[in-house]
Amino acid sequence: MSSTIETLEAKREAARLGGGQKRIDAQHAKGRLTARERLTVLLDEGSFEEVDMFVEHNCIDFGMDEVHYPGDGVVTGSGTINGRLTYVFAQDFTVLGGSLSERHAEKICKIMDAAMKVGAPVIGLNDSGGARIQEGVASLAGYAEVFQRNVLASGVIPQLSVIMGPCAGGAVYSPAMTDFIFMVEDTSYMFVTGPEVVKTVTNEEVTQEELGGAKTHTTKSGVADAAFENDIDALLATREFFAYLPASNRDAVPEVPTDDPWDRLEDSLDTVIPPNANQPYDMHEVIRKVADEGRFFEIQPNHAANIIVGFCRIEGRTVGVVANQPMVLAGVLDINTSKKAARFVRFCDAFEIPILTLVDVPGFLPGVAQEHNGIIKHGAKLLFAYAEATVPKITVITRKAYGGAYDVMASKHLRGDLNYAWPTAEIAVMGAKGAVEIIFRKDAGNPDKIAQKTKEYEDRFANPFVAASKGFIDEVIMPHSTRKRVALGLRKLRNKSLENPWKKHDNIPL
Ligand code: HXC
Repeated sequence: MSSTIETLEAKREAARLGGGQKRIDAQHAKGRLTARERLTVLLDEGSFEEVDMFVEHNCIDFGMDEVHYPGDGVVTGSGTINGRLTYVFAQDFTVLGGSLSERHAEKICKIMDAAMKVGAPVIGLNDSGGARIQEGVASLAGYAEVFQRNVLASGVIPQLSVIMGPCAGGAVYSPAMTDFIFMVEDTSYMFVTGPEVVKTVTNEEVTQEELGGAKTHTTKSGVADAAFENDIDALLATREFFAYLPASNRDAVPEVPTDDPWDRLEDSLDTVIPPNANQPYDMHEVIRKVADEGRFFEIQPNHAANIIVGFCRIEGRTVGVVANQPMVLAGVLDINTSKKAARFVRFCDAFEIPILTLVDVPGFLPGVAQEHNGIIKHGAKLLFAYAEATVPKITVITRKAYGGAYDVMASKHLRGDLNYAWPTAEIAVMGAKGAVEIIFRKDAGNPDKIAQKTKEYEDRFANPFVAASKGFIDEVIMPHSTRKRVALGLRKLRNKSLENPWKKHDNIPL
């Protein structure tokens, strides 16, 4: 008996070593943790239960019959984060570069299937050179099995990807179909084809970092949602982020106890809007003053920063926030902001997370580049996402709500449940100057008349009362009472029930 136990222990010990001490040391030398070390940081202490520790690959080509690693380059199982269940996989770069074999894929699929059955999120810690080259089409088939599950799980359970090493080929397409992607600065990369292939095909010379590092993907491409300084920071942030998410689309948002009074008044909000309408202010300040304990987890803070999206809590419950940011390009809507916010709105809607929209938007960005790159179709994404969303939607217009952007930003007409405006709101087709230049073009040579008409237009429309008189704004509220009004509104909307007409699925402008 004791010898069988010893055998098991020895087998486990061998499996825990992955690709061996030398490769573990190499992983550490690059500033990266091993797959198992990462899971220790991610999950509650002692909560990880591994499955398939002894699974091995089945390849006999290219000398692979001589090479066997128990676990086959991926550690899989389940555990808890602050007591809440999650399924996990962590690719082990020390085993054949974390490359995905048929069996490696089967292990990932097994925990995805288990997560779907019970309604729990899946977190993938990705560190992989892509399809296992020695296995050929078998590894491609393995990827496709994972992709298929990513798609079926989308909108059913939250799927999070943390990119923690070089991820190439198929290793980026599975994360791309998950809900959120976090990266580690300087040590993680994502590309479909690496710098060498790029050089051969297009003759462009580029480093891994420039092509697909964390900075590239969190600023330029918008592929990743956030970047963190090292493995530990990324994993701790994932724990914090996880606390905002419901376990599945069948579960309510989690509740975190708070001492922050629901009716806290914030007098400083009464003066946050500068006297000059063209002066910016930081919308983060408004968000933090409304949120429980001033906490806000922002998604894509450095990409399309003219819109802010992320999660806060009100009365301990998760709320998705979408807010124009007057500090960046005056908060204008453009292609990237529309795509960023539309995806976020759809995530919230899929998982029954109420949406708070803070509006200060001068309209859509004019320009040849925007038009030629499809602002019509991309802008329509955000319009579509808000219009189809059936979750509680509360909107607060703090200042400008001009033109089509007024409609788009969770207006009453797109089934906004509670549409509030601060007294500083200006709801119009456009700013007074632009409006008068068009309506009174023939008087362009008469500056006095233009000034008088501009004043008239401002007096008529640079306020929330015309919209309020039509019922498009439910109430003009004091800025200092915003948190209280939003909290009350969310309480009342907790049992909101609204369904879209039956359809197989919609046809959002992609
Ligand atoms: C098998 C692989 C591998 C792979 C790496 N290794 N990638 N083995 N299949 N795809 C092995 C290496 O041979 C090496 O083994 C070990 O992993 C570590 O790799 P290194 O190259 O030494 O590490 P590093 O210098 O850090 O470079 C990492 C890397 C590079 C950038 C990921 O290995 C690389 O470019 N790999 C190939 C990427 C690729 O083309 N993948 C296929 C994509 S096609 P030893 O024994 O020496 O330690 C694909 C199709 C799916 O994925 C498409 C679906 C849509």
